[in-house]
Amino acid sequence: MTADLPVGIHDLALRTSSLVLTHAELAQHTGADVVKYHEGIGQRSMSVPTADEDIVTMAADAAAPIIELHGTDRIRTLLFATETSIDQSKAAGVYVHSLLDFPPYVRVVELKQACYGATAALQFATALVHQDPAQQVLVLASDVARYDLDSPGEATQGAAAAAMLVSADPAILAINTPSGLFTQDVMDFWRPNYRSTAVVDGKKSLYAYLQALDGAWKDYQAHGGLPLDEIHTVCYHQPFTRMAFKAHQHLLGETGTQADAAAVDHAIAPTTGYNEIIGNSYTASTYLALAALLEADDTLDGQTVGLFSYGSGSVAEFFTGQVAPGYQAALRTDDHRSVVDRRRPLDYDTYRQLRMAPTHTNGAHHTLPHHAQGAFRLAALRDHQRIYEAVPATT
Ligand code: CAA
Repeated sequence: MTADLPVGIHDLALRTSSLVLTHAELAQHTGADVVKYHEGIGQRSMSVPTADEDIVTMAADAAAPIIELHGTDRIRTLLFATETSIDQSKAAGVYVHSLLDFPPYVRVVELKQACYGATAALQFATALVHQDPAQQVLVLASDVARYDLDSPGEATQGAAAAAMLVSADPAILAINTPSGLFTQDVMDFWRPNYRSTAVVDGKKSLYAYLQALDGAWKDYQAHGGLPLDEIHTVCYHQPFTRMAFKAHQHLLGETGTQADAAAVDHAIAPTTGYNEIIGNSYTASTYLALAALLEADDTLDGQTVGLFSYGSGSVAEFFTGQVAPGYQAALRTDDHRSVVDRRRPLDYDTYRQLRMAPTHTNGAHHTLPHHAQGAFRLAALRDHQRIYEAVPATT
């Protein structure tokens, strides 16, 4: 048996969409005080996809540098987590399999439970690698967070993908046991099959998130988890970054730990760097928080970090990981900053036009103009099919 072998995240790459709307621009048109956005919810800008970008193009883009570095030889499973699926039947990961030229012996499946799906995928991947440490698993988390225009959720939109290569002897983060789990049937946020935007009870969702944190933490403790003061910091799911600060304050209170706002800020601020400028990326959000933390602090060798994953509806998990010694060498910091910085700014009118553009659902042939900046794009819709293509490096 290989129970003691460290297994976890060996490589981690992020991608986001090509357009960005700042909250300063949004505030000028919604009439909200921009301080509400910047301080109240902790958001500065949101990524917006072009018409030729979606969860597949972002995920393929995130996975490509990982495959370029490590190859596909050891990968036998590709898990794709999303809550903004593009098909009711076919797994989005099959398109990624094709775009990145995976061998046919790699199985592909899609996982869904709101924002929690990627954590389920990571745990399933870890178990598969424990079963056969020669194998690696590619976990993809990709989402476009879209709320109704002029709704309170609009300011928390975003889009991103995280790709994680899970392997034995990971270079970034070994996943520890135990995990604390919590499931509750609650209608705080959901998206019926006939809707392109989520239905959300905002205030209820905040309460449900904190209840799930309590439940997952209690289960973590019941299974022999570490006390909070032995955990360096926690990477929380960040539907908006202020939620992570609220969650940490709440958990400190629940565990009877004294901490003022400055201490909470000090612990959580390093985890929010990507989410505050990208917005909610649902399944990818917790892993954007992890990347932000590791990239912001090069002194974490051997430290234990907590991860809290929350998916509305709801399922939550609290677990920890051990930062690998020398993790700094495995990070993709410059690459991540460049994909964030290259986004083209959107003015509000163009953003509205983009959001209100008709969706093509009649199965006819629609060619999509090339606006995506990434390595892959949705080139056309034809016969009810999505036609993806790799973008030649020169264009
Ligand atoms: N200056 C400074 N702060 C201000 C302010 C101003 N002028 N005006 C308001 N604020 C503060 C408020 O006091 C509030 O802070 P506190 O909660 O600490 O009191 C904060 O800004 C937000 O203000 P409101 O509550 O009035 O904002 P809202 O009615 O617009 O709703 C929201 C906020 C509920 C988060 C809404 O954006 C929403 O529905 N978002 C989508 C749902 C969501 O993200 N839920 C999170 C949990 S569910 C989950 O995690 C899964 C997921 O990914 C969706």
